Amino acid sequence: MTSVLEKFIQLCRSTSLKDIQIFEHEHPDFDIVDQLESTGENGLISAAKGNNFEVLKHLLKQGSPWNAIDREGKCCGNYAMELTPYNQEMVDYITNHAVQCELLLLALKQPSNVHEQTNEKYLSENVRYTEKSLIDGEKDGVMMDWETPLMRVHASVLANGLEKRLGENSGDDEAVRVLNVGYGMGIVDECLKEEIASKLTELGKQNEIEQHIIEAHPEVLNRLKNIDHNFTVHGKRWQESIPEIIEKGVKYDCIFFDTYAEYDHDFYEFLEFLPKILNKSGSFSYFNGNCPDNIFFHGVACQIAKLKLAKLGLETDFLSVEIDVDDEKTWEEVKRRYWHRKEYFLPISSFHE
Ligand SMILES: C[S@@+](CC[C@H](N)C(=O)[O-])C[C@H]1O[C@@H](n2cnc3c(N)ncnc32)[C@H](O)[C@@H]1O
Repeated sequence: MTSVLEKFIQLCRSTSLKDIQIFEHEHPDFDIVDQLESTGENGLISAAKGNNFEVLKHLLKQGSPWNAIDREGKCCGNYAMELTPYNQEMVDYITNHAVQCELLLLALKQPSNVHEQTNEKYLSENVRYTEKSLIDGEKDGVMMDWETPLMRVHASVLANGLEKRLGENSGDDEAVRVLNVGYGMGIVDECLKEEIASKLTELGKQNEIEQHIIEAHPEVLNRLKNIDHNFTVHGKRWQESIPEIIEKGVKYDCIFFDTYAEYDHDFYEFLEFLPKILNKSGSFSYFNGNCPDNIFFHGVACQIAKLKLAKLGLETDFLSVEIDVDDEKTWEEVKRRYWHRKEYFLPISSFHE
């Protein structure tokens, strides 16, 4: 026999909003957020699958959570993205709704020390370097060398941003200042050194390059002590280092952010510092690894970051970069795979002209 929930799910797929409202009236105790035990489907997911836009809008307005996922790990937004023909209006509607919900939640969230502990726990545990990776105490990959091509493009787009300051016969011979938050394997630092040197040569400039690194893990700092480099190292969490940098009045031309065991909330907190540490002509980028296994969730995270940056006066573009890490060998040293897609959306931000 078909249950009330199954009946509702069927209706949401294709029936009119009016019929849904009648159903709701006839079943006052029915909860529209309920999901089928077997598949995880609910009315909202069903409406997305059936391209039933009016009903989908109604369910979202009634409080059906946008991020409820079924047993395949997909939410209504994932199903909307799979519709043929593509329903851009529906995808945009769900995205905007999701972004509003998340911003509201962020605004309501009490500063909790749960995340502090997670980052502190990571920073107090041992890490291990292999030839290809930096691995934490839980056998998770902190940084792995498959990310090198991504770090290269990050460095290259940041270096391109220097044209704003040093292009068109500028007589500016002050050092180019670069800040990288999170050293890991130092891959991006080497890429930045090379890409900036090459950009300066292209522009016919001889400005010095001053590279600053913020890093908090004692063993990563040890590694930095044991290699030859000319970086300025701020050996504390960025939460403590950035206020010190601001105090000294130092500003950077390029800033890259890629930490570990931190939450979105921490990242947004970091963004708030940008107007005080990024030169007016400077560029900012970050490792965009949020929700790597769900493209819709990832899109929502990108949109939130873009809005947060826009509020600070920064315009953000996402460049599509191909990346293929399907070879199982890539992951043999670590407990779990942390990248799944073949496309990486590389963020690059700079202040509005
Ligand atoms: C993913 S790795 C960075 C990899 C780097 N982009 C590269 O190219 O090799 C993250 C680094 O951030 C550091 N880290 C984590 N939390 C931090 C914090 N709150 N402040 C400063 N560094 C932090 C970690 O110890 C780790 O070295």
